[in-house]
Amino acid sequence: MKTINSKIPHIILAATLLTCVSCSSPQPDTPEKARIGVACYNQSDTYIRQLTNCLRDQFDQRTNENDQLALTMTLRDAAGSQRNQNDQVKELLDAGCSILCVNLADRADPSEIIDLAREREIPIIFFNREPVAEDMMQWDQLYYVGADAKQAGRMQGELAAAAILADAQADRNHDGKIQYVVLEGEPGHQDAIIRTEYAVNTLIHQGIQLEKLSCQIANWNRAQAQNRMMQMISQHQNQIELVLANNDDMALGAIDAYKKLNVTESVLPLFFGIDGTDVGLKAVIDKELNATVYNDKEGQAESIANLAVSLITGQGTDDISFMNEKYIYLPYFKVTADHVGEFLER
Ligand code: BGC
Ligand code: CA
Repeated sequence: MKTINSKIPHIILAATLLTCVSCSSPQPDTPEKARIGVACYNQSDTYIRQLTNCLRDQFDQRTNENDQLALTMTLRDAAGSQRNQNDQVKELLDAGCSILCVNLADRADPSEIIDLAREREIPIIFFNREPVAEDMMQWDQLYYVGADAKQAGRMQGELAAAAILADAQADRNHDGKIQYVVLEGEPGHQDAIIRTEYAVNTLIHQGIQLEKLSCQIANWNRAQAQNRMMQMISQHQNQIELVLANNDDMALGAIDAYKKLNVTESVLPLFFGIDGTDVGLKAVIDKELNATVYNDKEGQAESIANLAVSLITGQGTDDISFMNEKYIYLPYFKVTADHVGEFLER
């Protein structure tokens, strides 16, 4: 593990703080101010909305705890458009942000944002939507905070396998196979295909015989998932025994579809999500969602905030451990009804 170069000469704040320490001059009465620009791909995304709330809490908390530092977070919502986001990033830079946290609208198209930030020597912390490795190499002041999609998929597969093995009725038609459907996230997103692949392979690895009935893209979205699920139900009626969704919102959309059709409980499939959003956890408590995988938004927000403050002040970067000098991946956790309470308290 390597740590990053902790010097960012252009940030006056760092110099000011260091001067105060080195000459032990009296601490200033008024705190140093720093503005943090956060650009997110879409605030209508449940998980992203909660993650950015956590991020705001983190910056507020640091401001409250440290009277030398006043951090102001400015949030911009690209509503799904990379073009909007490029304009918003330009505005954030013009407004004097000393750090950018970027949740790309199009993870394959960060070049314009990187160029804008590099011209002004403002570091970027990308989060949740990972740029491709080649783009991350464009400049040494680019970082990424996220989680490992393979782990999420593997955990979802383990949770599903455990539930199937524990329930003789899971194979409702008793043909020795589990008929399943998949609700997949946005095409091209690092979390979509990989989560599915690892979930399915884990189930197979655990000795579950699977039969895939259908896989539909619902772009992380609850309403779209409900729609796709209605189509799949009309096609396969009560043959579906398992629904694997790449996130909680889509799993909840699938549950919505069954509710709308008034399907009796005895022919409901098992449902699995990923995220542990507030609504996802509630569905686990209510035993509607069999289990989910916690996508640690609090941990990710804390890592983003730690890194941002280190880059702003030039202090503490040595304590951060990176993978390949610029990546931070937080672990996922399995969530079942047995211990869902732990996650509600976060
Ligand atoms: C989350 C999804 C979210 C997506 C947005 C994923 O990691 O699991 O719920 O919609 O990120 O980029
Ligand atoms: Ca079956």
